[in-house]
Amino acid sequence: MKKILILLLTAIFAISLLFMGVGCKEKVSGEVEVFSWWTAGGEAEGLQAMIDIFNEKYPDVEFINATVAGGAGVEAKPVLISRLTGGDPPDSFQVHAGHELIDTWGVGDYLEPVNFIFEEEGWYDVYPEDMISILSKGDDILSVPVNIHRSNVLWYNKAVFEENGIEVPTTFDEFFAAADVLKAAGITPLAMGEAWTATHLFENVLLGVVGADDYVGLMDGSVKWDSDGVKEAIQTYVDILDYVNADNSALGWDEAAQYVIDGTAAMTVMGDWAEGYFKSKGLTPDVEFGYVPSPGTSGIFMALSDTFCLPKGAPNRDAAIAWLKICGSKEGQDAFNPIKGSIPSRTDADISLYDVYLKSAIDDFGSNIITPSIQHGAAVSETWLVAIGDVITLLLADKDVDAAAAALQAAADENL
Ligand code: GAL
Repeated sequence: MKKILILLLTAIFAISLLFMGVGCKEKVSGEVEVFSWWTAGGEAEGLQAMIDIFNEKYPDVEFINATVAGGAGVEAKPVLISRLTGGDPPDSFQVHAGHELIDTWGVGDYLEPVNFIFEEEGWYDVYPEDMISILSKGDDILSVPVNIHRSNVLWYNKAVFEENGIEVPTTFDEFFAAADVLKAAGITPLAMGEAWTATHLFENVLLGVVGADDYVGLMDGSVKWDSDGVKEAIQTYVDILDYVNADNSALGWDEAAQYVIDGTAAMTVMGDWAEGYFKSKGLTPDVEFGYVPSPGTSGIFMALSDTFCLPKGAPNRDAAIAWLKICGSKEGQDAFNPIKGSIPSRTDADISLYDVYLKSAIDDFGSNIITPSIQHGAAVSETWLVAIGDVITLLLADKDVDAAAAALQAAADENL
């Protein structure tokens, strides 16, 4: 009798475990719509690597990969704004850590804090405090990071440099000297793309000319945007534009990077998602392409982080949480980042999975001065970024250094 009772209890326990989903794949069903702008080479494959893990773990959930093409989210962000303000949030969306997250979506009360996921998953032990602070509004953690990207990289075609007998530039003087040789040889020295990539180049030149301290001071108002240092940076930027492909406004960042692959251009200044792109085209770091910090920025790591969040009113909240658990996990990050061209935001990644460039980025992130990217949401709010972007677009056309400096200061006054 006692034996039968024990057997019965064991059976009931086993059946209830099965229903709770313990010991088997987690029981979440329905669908999950994840919104991002990762459609280019490298970024699309990186995202797919995380989706594959999701599909493996949650076979009953249909993954809706809701991408809106356009680098840096220039096309995706307006769509997102109208969806969120219209009460039609996706289940999760891509957003940059820092001011884009906190001052844009954080203030609008659009996001559910994800502290509970950090607790459940033990993430307080594997994410550095600095990382958690750029995800947080007060005590509320508003998003889950998947990576850290570096924005200040000059990528170059190694064969083009060798064939033209020039050294890879690390200063602006060296850049202009190399660019003159390349231009004379009929090669575009620097490939640039559409408007946001011009702002991306500008943040790099700004950092390279004014240095890390003043760059950071510009974001908190202690340094003026119409100071002599910034004017020198704007003038340097205007001078660089003489060495850029004429069709820039018609190209995405990846198409500009393709010019470097093809050898019609020698260099491009882009975040390290370009590394993901080069690799997606079959290239190997240090073989066909090389990389150095953009001119004047050695020892500085201009950082940004891609994250995914939990919008309030997400139609499939449980599945969204399941997705976020993959994004923040070691497994998810170690599958995503080596393909994406970014480094993990966790401290416990398997470094052996990362290539020579990414290993160097991991080292630099640990030893360099860290500055926040303007174009990619770390340093400024979305509103301020749009204002800076407008100034740069005008500058491309009129090359008026003083007017740009004044307009940048006005943008800071309005947003600080
Ligand atoms: C950045 C984003 C990167 C990469 C890039 C180009 O804003 O942080 O992950 O996707 O845009 O699309």
